[in-house]
Amino acid sequence: MNTGSKILITGNMGYIGPGVVSHLRTSFPGATLIGVDMGYFGHCLTGATFVPEARLDVQYFADVRALPTVALKGVDAVVHLAAISNDPMGNAYEKVTCDINYKASVSVAKAAKEAGAQRFVFASSCSVYGYAEGAARDETSDLNPLTAYAKSKINTEQAIVNLADENFVITCLRFPTACGMSSRLRLDLVLNDFVAAAVASKKISILSDGTPWRPLIDVKDMARAIEWAIARSPTIGGDFLAINAGRSEWNYQIRDLAEAVREVIPDITIDVNTDAPPDKRTYRVNFDMYSQLAPNHQPQVDLRQSILELKRGLETIGFNDEHFRVSDFMRLKILAGLRERELINSRLEWVRVGGRANRA
Ligand SMILES: NC(=O)c1ccc[n+]([C@@H]2O[C@H](COP(=O)([O-])OP(=O)(O)OC[C@H]3O[C@@H](n4cnc5c(N)ncnc54)[C@H](O)[C@@H]3O)[C@@H](O)[C@H]2O)c1
Repeated sequence: MNTGSKILITGNMGYIGPGVVSHLRTSFPGATLIGVDMGYFGHCLTGATFVPEARLDVQYFADVRALPTVALKGVDAVVHLAAISNDPMGNAYEKVTCDINYKASVSVAKAAKEAGAQRFVFASSCSVYGYAEGAARDETSDLNPLTAYAKSKINTEQAIVNLADENFVITCLRFPTACGMSSRLRLDLVLNDFVAAAVASKKISILSDGTPWRPLIDVKDMARAIEWAIARSPTIGGDFLAINAGRSEWNYQIRDLAEAVREVIPDITIDVNTDAPPDKRTYRVNFDMYSQLAPNHQPQVDLRQSILELKRGLETIGFNDEHFRVSDFMRLKILAGLRERELINSRLEWVRVGGRANRA
């Protein structure tokens, strides 16, 4: 990206977005940064000393299902994060997940190309491989999307392949499960959950026997990968690239994650459910391609740092809620609360209170 480039980031007001905006502000100092978000979780700030959107040049409160044309005007790169972002939400709002994560993503990619953007970065997911024992999945492995969320990601990848050309370079970053501190922290992610449980109740309860594998990535390293994808030349990986973005050493067994938390927060107990039936939701991912193509943007955070930053972040906000699994730290719970109060309708559109109601 040249000085003066315009970068549009959709879904910037979630968990990953604030760190991405801050990272891009540093990596592309002269760029104009524009955000587009529905703002579902805008009020869920965690330890922020300023509103993260202050680092943007422009913030649109808008729905990617009806992206205002003006948001794409003159844009050079689009980083598309906006989504219904996990399996529980995808199961609860299956059609909406298809509409936002798949149909709208394809429309945004098409509109970006028509508007003259040169780069499109899509936040995809390693969940496209499904869960099962076996060798670490690489980009040539069979796909096995098991949920509405995983299907929405792979359907998008497959629908945008043909849009790519040397002037519109597409990178689908298949991220593993995120972790780490953010100005809009989520605790519905495995490592974050463990650290929160350790801080609030000095006890981690592992629901399985602790043996399943999970690949992880810190949010700071996600931002690094996104920077790489924005700047990627088609000579490195081609016009269209779907790539596992992470680091092979970050394939962890669940019990090792809990032990790593205990090293940072001693005096906690770890309950493993030895009677649990084998958890089939286990998988490992191979990140060799990412290490070959992006040698200067490799993940740099180590697990201990991620845990320490989460611990400090939670302590800063005086976190002590043992019942956080039914709190506003869970994305699904926030949406359910907005629905209950009739602030959003069944399509997850804002209801215009005091104006013409848009109820469904
Ligand atoms: N968190 C993870 O573990 C992880 C892993 C792999 C991929 N990803 C992907 O990264 C992206 C960001 O994830 P996150 O953890 O920050 O999720 P998040 O739920 O915290 O944030 C998603 C953001 O998208 C916005 N959004 C949702 N629907 C929208 C719409 N119709 N129009 C405009 N904005 C809308 C939300 O308001 C929210 O701010 C998602 O695409 C997610 O699928 C996340």
